[in-house]
Amino acid sequence: MESHWGLPEGNPWSTPFAHALLHHLDLFPGAKVLDVAAGGGIPAFYIADQVGPQGHVLAVDVHQSQVLRSRSMQGSRLPWLQFEVGDMRQLPPDLPKFDRITGNIAFMFFRPDRPTALKNLVRFLKPGGQIVLTWPTQGTFDSLWQRVRREMESRQLAVELERFQEYLDERPSTDDAKGWLCELGMEKVETAEWPLEIETGPGKEFLGHPLLRSGFLDDVYECFDDPAKAEEFMQTIAADLNSFLPLTAQRGVLSAWAPDEKR
Ligand SMILES: C[S@@+](CC[C@H](N)C(=O)[O-])C[C@H]1O[C@@H](n2cnc3c(N)ncnc32)[C@H](O)[C@@H]1O
Repeated sequence: MESHWGLPEGNPWSTPFAHALLHHLDLFPGAKVLDVAAGGGIPAFYIADQVGPQGHVLAVDVHQSQVLRSRSMQGSRLPWLQFEVGDMRQLPPDLPKFDRITGNIAFMFFRPDRPTALKNLVRFLKPGGQIVLTWPTQGTFDSLWQRVRREMESRQLAVELERFQEYLDERPSTDDAKGWLCELGMEKVETAEWPLEIETGPGKEFLGHPLLRSGFLDDVYECFDDPAKAEEFMQTIAADLNSFLPLTAQRGVLSAWAPDEKR
């Protein structure tokens, strides 16, 4: 089936993650798909295009603004694609069951109780259905975190260092995710990591980088009680960019299948 709605090529974050997700997703025309953490519709639009009018894609996001934005991009196209507000950790129990569940750059938002959130989500899979989730795994930007740790240690910032370690430990690894899905009785549980190098310059470009700032650098700033101290600390790190290049994210992929009820 020819694709009419591709992934946006200029997107440096969601699209590479979606490529990893789609590599592991077994999609077919007519499939009923639930896409969680749908955001601006990557990869919901692409998936809807692939499943065609015999299929259905329900794309949920917890933020109404995202849902409204996606609906306005959609207009009257792909009418079998539906954007709705919903929390993927607690979807309404009367939802139908799906052939596939996808979530691009989604798994880190399953907190605080990731195993329960996973359990709540996979119950919407039909027997023999597949779930594929992606997220930046624990190895993401390791070289940067090592540099941050060294700087905190050399400045004897014990409180900040402890908070920073908590932040690092909180991020799920592919092994964590695999274990939780195996415990749920899912089959053919597979994980993969796809490296993705992020380009940036030093100083302000690094500190204001749209991919790094929210979700990564902000977590370091939050280790400090004093914003001025945080700013001075981060400027030191930003000026020393060459010591932690390349800056590599790991696109984690988790794929698993619900048991087939015939067996
Ligand atoms: C990094 S964006 C990814 C969006 C899209 N899948 C993409 O690849 O561009 C994560 C999205 O998850 C949504 N989100 C966060 N927590 C959520 C939750 N509990 N339930 C549903 N969506 C959630 C956010 O609103 C945001 O749009």
